Amino acid sequence: MTTSNWSRRSFMKTVGALGLGACGMRADALDRVAAASQSAAGRSPEDIARDEFFWREIQFAFKLDRSLINLNNGFTCPTPRVALESVWRYMDMINMLPVHYQGMIARNTETIRLRMAAEFGCDPGEVALTRGASEALQIAQNGIDLKAGDEVVTTEQDYPRMLTTWDQRVRREGIKVIRFQFPVPTTQDDLYQRFEKAITPRTKVFHFTHITNLTAQLFPVQRLSRLARSKGIVTIVDGAHALGQFPFKLRDLECDAYGVSLHKWLLAPIGNGLLYVRKDMIPKFWPLQAAPEQQNDDIRKFEAIGTHPWAIRAGLGEALAFHQALGAERKAARLRYLTLRWANALKVHPRIKVYTDLSEPPQAWGVAAVTIEGMDVRSLAKFLMDKYRIITVPLVGGAPPNSVFDYQALRISPNVYTTLEEVDTFVMAMEDALKSGVPDVPASAVEELEMCR
Ligand SMILES: Cc1ncc(COP(=O)(O)O)c(C=O)c1O
Repeated sequence: MTTSNWSRRSFMKTVGALGLGACGMRADALDRVAAASQSAAGRSPEDIARDEFFWREIQFAFKLDRSLINLNNGFTCPTPRVALESVWRYMDMINMLPVHYQGMIARNTETIRLRMAAEFGCDPGEVALTRGASEALQIAQNGIDLKAGDEVVTTEQDYPRMLTTWDQRVRREGIKVIRFQFPVPTTQDDLYQRFEKAITPRTKVFHFTHITNLTAQLFPVQRLSRLARSKGIVTIVDGAHALGQFPFKLRDLECDAYGVSLHKWLLAPIGNGLLYVRKDMIPKFWPLQAAPEQQNDDIRKFEAIGTHPWAIRAGLGEALAFHQALGAERKAARLRYLTLRWANALKVHPRIKVYTDLSEPPQAWGVAAVTIEGMDVRSLAKFLMDKYRIITVPLVGGAPPNSVFDYQALRISPNVYTTLEEVDTFVMAMEDALKSGVPDVPASAVEELEMCR
């Protein structure tokens, strides 16, 4: 089918689906995404990535504030309307008769565990649903038995909250945390060797990100997990940004525990996360909140947190359906296409430095970091916001237990709903900054932006 045929048909379908002029708006976003995906059958994800008619359908699935250009989707992503509306429905339902519906919906969300396991490649008995990556990772970090003097190896560029979690165990129990630095971008071999060199007879845990929240540096998870296992070391992997952004199967990573923010790249309603624990490792981790002994080897022990908003978890079902209808490969290819579009346009300028490896085979998708040499990144972020209404996040290192790094950059993270026009406006704004410079601003003026990474 030619693009123009496809576009006319899909436009008619869109108009029909919206019920324009007849019965008002209908939000059958999932049908439209599924129909768009069906129309794209037989074409490669890279081909679809460049098809604006296809992505127009996806853009319709969100209710956004397009008066701002959001290039900070690495924070928390908007959820498609179809998932948000399901949360309202479940909320209404539970509220009608909590004593009846709350338990019923809780039991029904077992189907979500099955579907998540099938989609992301593991056993359902290895999937705990949490409220975010912080909760998932802290279950693993605080749940593993360690004695004073036992060592955890991690990096200076891990997520601050996770580093703080280890720091608290240092203060409370006297464990030792070894944090090493690495240049960005770097190779998988380099990261592997840095972990290997840090091992001592007291090493008990490797903790690292699948991709960092800073420059999206990719780690060799499977190789590190194999190395760790061969030495009796437990691997805890921070997959907050990875799952849902690019395709892989959890079991192929071979790690012991893996924590995810589902409200990031899976586009789930805010308040959804996932903890994967390899089956035979479940008894080795204590839950954060107490569970009965009979649940020792049951993944559900990590979910025993008392009353919480089940509607939000139930809404994960629609977010997963949206992800599946869109297709993991197509989504990853589009995110990469958008990233390469701005990065390739900017990197021809001698003062532009990109801190993310953009080479093939892909090691980066929807997140990359860039800087203009000699320009304060906080001032640049403020300029982009004030003059162009573009939201980015300035990356500036802190002091331990925060992440420590010596580069400054803007993290740029578009999403499946981002238009080419928005990406091109960012390129134009950066060229404006290159040409004319930006006003200096005090760090405190952008503290709010800095918090959102
Ligand atoms: C690398 C990384 N780990 C963990 C987290 C915490 O995730 P959540 O906000 O879901 O608790 C984030 C959030 O930005 C992150 O980027």
